[in-house]
Amino acid sequence: MLFERLNVYTHLIPSELDYVGNKKIFFDPPDTEVGCWVGNDLMKDYTENSVVLDLGSGSGATIASFIRNKAQFAVGLDISEDSLDWSRTQYTGGSYKGKTKFLKLDFLKFASDTLAMMLKDHQIPNIVTSNPPYVPMVLKNDEKLASIYGGEDGLLYFHPALQYALHFKAAFGITLGSYSSIKTVTRLLASSGYVIKSVTLSVLPFSEPTVSNFSQIEKLLHSGEALIWNKGNNIPYGYIIIGIAAKYVGVSQKPKVDFLFDLLKVACSSNTTALEKLEDGLFAESYGGTLRVLELPQPSKRSHW
Ligand SMILES: C[S@@+](CC[C@H](N)C(=O)[O-])C[C@H]1O[C@@H](n2cnc3c(N)ncnc32)[C@H](O)[C@@H]1O
Repeated sequence: MLFERLNVYTHLIPSELDYVGNKKIFFDPPDTEVGCWVGNDLMKDYTENSVVLDLGSGSGATIASFIRNKAQFAVGLDISEDSLDWSRTQYTGGSYKGKTKFLKLDFLKFASDTLAMMLKDHQIPNIVTSNPPYVPMVLKNDEKLASIYGGEDGLLYFHPALQYALHFKAAFGITLGSYSSIKTVTRLLASSGYVIKSVTLSVLPFSEPTVSNFSQIEKLLHSGEALIWNKGNNIPYGYIIIGIAAKYVGVSQKPKVDFLFDLLKVACSSNTTALEKLEDGLFAESYGGTLRVLELPQPSKRSHW
């Protein structure tokens, strides 16, 4: 196992760390940076032939990081017009020209034919990534929270994202929270023919909408499907973002039962955001990939809607 620790943004550039100024565009740089790592780890297998499909592309900063790291082409899908307008303004000209496309598409409605048609001028993706809405919640009647609501188990978007990746037999990168039913994720990845290549972790405080809709996370905590990080005491503080980069091998794997959950459990028992309890090498034998911990400067403003 390769263990890495970083405390600076590697993929997002300084202008992407400034608040976008529109509350309908998701803005939470540490979360986005984890998603960038996931895709960039997968791109190492394809070098300059990477064609990436990013589901729920938000501000487009993740797509931009792929192009800066020499992806051949990257397509972002989102349902938010504001996000798409921003992405097109920022990332379709200059050095991005002809290398990016931002499309309005609801990726909960899996539509491979529509997608294939929309992509017909370009190559088929060999990498599918997503940092989707992943907070487990039961919403009150009129609430939407389209950028974070991940259904009752946090996996509402994980399933179609995996379906897209399987459709293209592509490498798959997914970013979730330590409360997003990670045991289920491990099993589904393995049974779908995916092998985990890297895991990127970063502690994030709960955002306001998560705190005011906390009952579902509490329920999952009690049923043993969720984990949160408590700053070494019993006061709920936040969670650990988990970015998973997985290679497609096409053969159903025997899952290392609860491997990721156990890893997160050790991480959550740490007293600091360095997740220092991971350093005893406990996972070295059972996991041959990269384990990375990011301790990133937190933004003064976050935008979840
Ligand atoms: C957690 S944000 C992440 C944004 C971006 N990937 C990032 O890392 O900064 C999730 C994104 O998914 C988009 N989204 C939500 N529901 C969607 C859907 N059904 N189809 C496509 N995009 C969706 C939201 O508009 C939002 O931009």
